[in-house]
Amino acid sequence: MAPRPLIAGNWKMNGQLRDLAELQAIADAGRNGLNEGRDILICPPATMLSASFGILGDVAAVGGQDCHPADSGAHTGDIAATMLKDVGARYVIVGHSERRADHGESDELVRAKAEAAMRAGLIAVICIGETEAERDADATTDVLDRQLAGSLPDDVDGDQVVVAYEPVWAIGTGKTPTADDVRDIHAFIRRRLVDRFGDAADGVRILYGGSVKPANAAEFLAIDNVDGALVGGASLKASDFVAICQASPTA
Ligand code: PGA
Repeated sequence: MAPRPLIAGNWKMNGQLRDLAELQAIADAGRNGLNEGRDILICPPATMLSASFGILGDVAAVGGQDCHPADSGAHTGDIAATMLKDVGARYVIVGHSERRADHGESDELVRAKAEAAMRAGLIAVICIGETEAERDADATTDVLDRQLAGSLPDDVDGDQVVVAYEPVWAIGTGKTPTADDVRDIHAFIRRRLVDRFGDAADGVRILYGGSVKPANAAEFLAIDNVDGALVGGASLKASDFVAICQASPTA
């Protein structure tokens, strides 16, 4: 049985208190059953987490966009998974390609962050994906293989991690892979998860991310082994995000 779909919004470094109105609009849409049969997640900047939690209630979960691998300590400017949990977060994104690129995050570090998330009782949304140059060199599956092997902790239960496949060249560009490519790549990821985790792999949700919009969401979300979406730009506007949620199948 396919896992319950997850539609996740990643606000990145966007959002000020005035933008809580967008979350209020999502919460209002939730009163009409938006989250029936599907999970909804918003990852606002850390400055907005507490306020988001209060507004979204049980319509949508909130999550962090990153965490430190340690549970606490002298790491100025960083946020521990335990601290995210403390303010009501249920998820945390780790290994987003922007963090891999901007902060030189390795697979090993991403894995340590995912382990910290699991220790804190958070679900880790672990991002993987090839760059344009890697795709052009036909190295996509090699890259994904390496990222999956290096970034995922051992011994995961299906509901402790989510894998987000985000081709780097599709993020924020309006370019997307074809539905056939997404089908093949998600099937490949599922096979690798089964090889490694056995039956537990069935419960791991594999999200597609990269220029998901209301106009293309239904096509991507209908593909086998696409168990939801990680949405950047289109998650900043409640009407677009709600439309993407409504395009998702329900469990
Ligand atoms: P995008 O970003 O939807 O703006 O392409 C996706 C992401 O980076 O998670």
